[in-house]
Amino acid sequence: MVQKDVATLTFDSHCHLLPGIDDGAATMEESLEMARVLVAAGFTTVCCTPHLIKGVYDSTSAEIRILTAELQNAIVQESIPLQLVAGAEYYLDEYLPDFLKDPLLLDESHLLLVEIQNNADIKLVQDTFFRMKSSGLTPLIAHPERCRLLSLPEECDDRKGLMVRLLSPFTARHSQTKEPSLLSYLQSIGCQFQGDIGSFAGLYGDRVRAQANSFLQAGLYTHFGSDAHHSRHLADLLRNGMSPLKNNI
Ligand SMILES: [Fe+2]
Repeated sequence: MVQKDVATLTFDSHCHLLPGIDDGAATMEESLEMARVLVAAGFTTVCCTPHLIKGVYDSTSAEIRILTAELQNAIVQESIPLQLVAGAEYYLDEYLPDFLKDPLLLDESHLLLVEIQNNADIKLVQDTFFRMKSSGLTPLIAHPERCRLLSLPEECDDRKGLMVRLLSPFTARHSQTKEPSLLSYLQSIGCQFQGDIGSFAGLYGDRVRAQANSFLQAGLYTHFGSDAHHSRHLADLLRNGMSPLKNNI
């Protein structure tokens, strides 16, 4: 049930490749080294998605577009066969609408990457994504397997049971109140979901890896991304994380 026609391992939808703008690549040299590793792993297009968080990472869309163009020029100069897209990893809080006045879109379907924190207010999450969809934007939820608000109610080895629970509007967690799960709500309004290659490599622990495998088997993911921040150990991370994916998408 994995969506073979959408999720690919040539399009990196989440990467902190731009130099010196957030906690990703520190220098142009490191960006170029990361680009070489990503190409060697099979990627042909990378979305540059630096954090945008009010008071922490306050870059403008114009600055990100300029920096992406500068890095693209350097990549061409180095004869690295990689296409860049200017994007951002938006942070879901009350300041997000300010950043969306000039949104950085990842594709022609008006896709943009948004991160949900574990302590986010569920009503704010629902209202924000509903308003984004209503305005023609398509939220791509960053690494849902790492967000406890989107956890399946329990792990399940049985594929049929997993599918029933994932696609059911009511989770066991909310069965007493018949409140729809946040995950099923986000699916119902047309959000998309980015699996993190590092999650499949075990970078965030066994619980997150199990959750990622459950989502993968359930066909939740529409995109994958490296969420790469550094060149250090990147080749190993991609190899370990992409190996199980290649057998399942
Ligand atoms: Fe990220």
